Amino acid sequence: MKKIHLSEVDSTNSYLKQNYKTLTNYTFVSTDKQTAGRGRNNRTWKSEDSKNLLFSLLILDKELIKEYKKISIISAYTIIEVLKEYNINDLSIKWPNDIYYKDDKLCGILLEAVTTNDIECLIIGVGLNVNQELFDGDYIHKPISLKNILDKEISINNLKDKIYQKFISNLNNLLKGYDYYQEIINYDYLKNKEVYAVVNDIKKKVIVKGINKDFSLMIIDEEKEIKIDSGEISFHV
Ligand code: BTN
Repeated sequence: MKKIHLSEVDSTNSYLKQNYKTLTNYTFVSTDKQTAGRGRNNRTWKSEDSKNLLFSLLILDKELIKEYKKISIISAYTIIEVLKEYNINDLSIKWPNDIYYKDDKLCGILLEAVTTNDIECLIIGVGLNVNQELFDGDYIHKPISLKNILDKEISINNLKDKIYQKFISNLNNLLKGYDYYQEIINYDYLKNKEVYAVVNDIKKKVIVKGINKDFSLMIIDEEKEIKIDSGEISFHV
């Protein structure tokens, strides 16, 4: 495992995608500035230079790669565990992997895989809003930062070290069979909410029952329970 810091890069996820063959498991790459930061669903990820924590973590371990369905939610939970040390409450996980403070988005996670015949590697990309105060432009989900919440600057380096350590220990526990499900269900933002879900291109109002044991999401549509896997649905609360 290795920690790399780049002052500027197109995207930390793209960097690991291009370089994973020469890197080791748990390589961590962070940056002050992304020129082509990427979000989920082909959106761009905007971040003021040097104000936020932007990093990606490389997973090459084959046993861990098998747990890919659990990894994005466990990543969100891992960050919440660290943020609780800063006395921030009202944090939750908006399935599949955003972190919310009350009703605003504090952190986004982009989990990507490089696939040939098998999955070669997983890349966990995290954008956590830390010291940025103003978010101009159009956002589907209103952003918020730790500075907005705590009204003080936070050391990005300290936060980065704590998050890195916690990731390693939680992923190692996942390898040993501990999947944090009992903890995670306490942070289920969408549970019991009525949301608009786009299912097969049709937008409809459904009720969310909650996160399932296999980390899929159960929704109730016309009194029928439907299990949704990551990527099949988009929500607008
Ligand atoms: C989302 O759409 O909510 C996911 C955003 C993920 C952004 C992070 S920033 C570091 C890493 N590199 C990227 O290009 N994206 C992820």
